[in-house]
Amino acid sequence: MNDPIIVSVGGGKGGVGKSTVTSYLGAALSKKKYSVGFVDADLGGANLHSFLGVKRPRTGLQDFLSGRVKTLGETAVETCIPGSWLISGASDILELANPKFGQKQRLISSLRKLNADYIFVDLAAGTGFHVTDFYASFSHGIIVSDSLPISIENAYGFLKNGILRGLTRLFPDRKDVSRFVQRLSDSKAAEGFATVSEMLSAAARVYPEETTLMKQWLADRRNFLVLNMIKDKTDIGVGRRFVELVRKYLSVSLSYIGYICYAPEIRTAVRESKPAVLSPSASVSGCFEAIAANLCALTRG
Ligand SMILES: Nc1ncnc2c1ncn2[C@@H]1O[C@H](COP(=O)(O)OP(=O)(O)OP(=O)(O)O)[C@@H](O)[C@H]1O
Ligand SMILES: [Mg+2]
Repeated sequence: MNDPIIVSVGGGKGGVGKSTVTSYLGAALSKKKYSVGFVDADLGGANLHSFLGVKRPRTGLQDFLSGRVKTLGETAVETCIPGSWLISGASDILELANPKFGQKQRLISSLRKLNADYIFVDLAAGTGFHVTDFYASFSHGIIVSDSLPISIENAYGFLKNGILRGLTRLFPDRKDVSRFVQRLSDSKAAEGFATVSEMLSAAARVYPEETTLMKQWLADRRNFLVLNMIKDKTDIGVGRRFVELVRKYLSVSLSYIGYICYAPEIRTAVRESKPAVLSPSASVSGCFEAIAANLCALTRG
């Protein structure tokens, strides 16, 4: 059995389609005979189950985080996608919206032991600490955005915070290095850095070994972009410009793996609680098949 490829799905802005992309992309991969696991990491407002035909999950992350069950695998339930499983979030237990560091670490290391070809971790909206922590913990991440400037701005903030979090997590006992990296977060301050590469050049003079580790982490990361709710050709170009911006300022590669057209059927399915992932129209399934093919090519060679 190979280790699963764990892909977090985030994007900063609420309602841009993170859960939609997670579920439809999982269904497209399942059609290609990959086994798929889903984890709803939106700890304050879990709703991924309703995209996957699960009415009320009988168990979920809360049982693992509270210690009621020993292994994370015990909390998985079947979904409408054949051969897939879902570990649901906890929408009604507020304290779990802010898990402790140890709880999160236990969750992250347990996830790596689960059985599936791909595991998708659907993140909450926002660019805060808990969300970006999940993003930084897995080597693969999909950023979902629509083409509106505010969404792109949020997606950029999300990725930037994820990178900051990932770089500082490399040195948990080194406050000095963390503080140095954090100077990226305020580019307008006298001591701030405008780009990741500027920060790395300065760091190389003070912390040469740590800088090598940071460069390695950045090079190992696989970031993918999916643009959602596309209405015309101009929208598609927004993704290409975003990729350029990220390359220039954040020094990570962001592969634009596809876009999804605005499709009223997706909205209707959610409103009527139908597990539409199994029977999308030709245009919607075409978009997701293309994204699935690109993801496979980039993650499996
Ligand atoms: N391509 C699309 N065309 C039409 N409607 C869409 C599309 N993608 C998503 N939607 C609709 O937009 C709404 C938000 O989608 P979704 O819940 O997937 O977003 P989200 O980013 O996961 O939200 P949250 O931040 O609350 O977790 C849903 O009603 C969904 O049906
Ligand atoms: Mg969601």
